[in-house]
Amino acid sequence: MEKRRDFLAFASITSLGLFLKNIPKAISKAIDACVATTRDVLGPFYIRNSPVRAAMAEETELGQALWVSGVVYNSACEPISGALVELWQASAVGVYDTSSNFKLRAQQTTGNDGAYRFTTVYPGSYDNRPSHIHYRVSVPSGTSLVTQLYFEGDPLIPTDPFAGVPSAKERIKPLDKSGSIWKVNFDVYLGIINAVQDAQESIGYLKVMGNNPFEEALELSWSVYESGHTELLIYNTLGVLIDTLWSGHMQADKKTTQWNAPMGTNAGTYFAKLINNNRTIAQLKLIKK
Ligand SMILES: [Fe+2]
Repeated sequence: MEKRRDFLAFASITSLGLFLKNIPKAISKAIDACVATTRDVLGPFYIRNSPVRAAMAEETELGQALWVSGVVYNSACEPISGALVELWQASAVGVYDTSSNFKLRAQQTTGNDGAYRFTTVYPGSYDNRPSHIHYRVSVPSGTSLVTQLYFEGDPLIPTDPFAGVPSAKERIKPLDKSGSIWKVNFDVYLGIINAVQDAQESIGYLKVMGNNPFEEALELSWSVYESGHTELLIYNTLGVLIDTLWSGHMQADKKTTQWNAPMGTNAGTYFAKLINNNRTIAQLKLIKK
């Protein structure tokens, strides 16, 4: 009996092996890689409506020429046709152009094969950050992913708060330096998780940790993706300010803050509001028991 069970186990492993061997390479690659691409910070330099073009860099742009290409896939690992792919980056010496010239900015819409390809220059380091290219990929249903591409071997990656985290690992790509034009490939997977990402989440977040309704104290986890004037405020239902948990300049960062309801605070409903650069990132209802 024991032997027969072993034999069946062996047989099923063998046939699974054969099955896996027979999967065409392209499909097995997609199965391996079909994990939703993680998001990254939008940063302060995004500008809508960049020119539709393949050449992000004009011929006069100084720097190492680079081709950036890839395919946009949906959560079923199928290429997405009609995905809008917007890229923006710093110049070879680490400067972002924010003029109406749209230097080193471009967008393309994918065809049936989901593919995109831009020609540009290798981005320099800006603000001591590793070289990176910003992406915003949107599909007609409104789903969008804001993320960044990094390059393998960049010594600034380990200490960078955005590139140095585990969720960025899949976005650090090898550079092919074999030709006079360097090449990098970055496939983008729009997973189910991205379907619930709205525009607001791309500028920060505010979450309640622990119990809500709460007894006396409540922990808030929050983050802003752009440096600038930031406020985390507590209001009552009449819109009267009850407490200021943060007011002032903040670097793009994440924090955990405890709200200890001041003595004599009545039971009832309150609101925590996170504002960054005059935009409300989130407003949460808090209920004190
Ligand atoms: Fe950037």
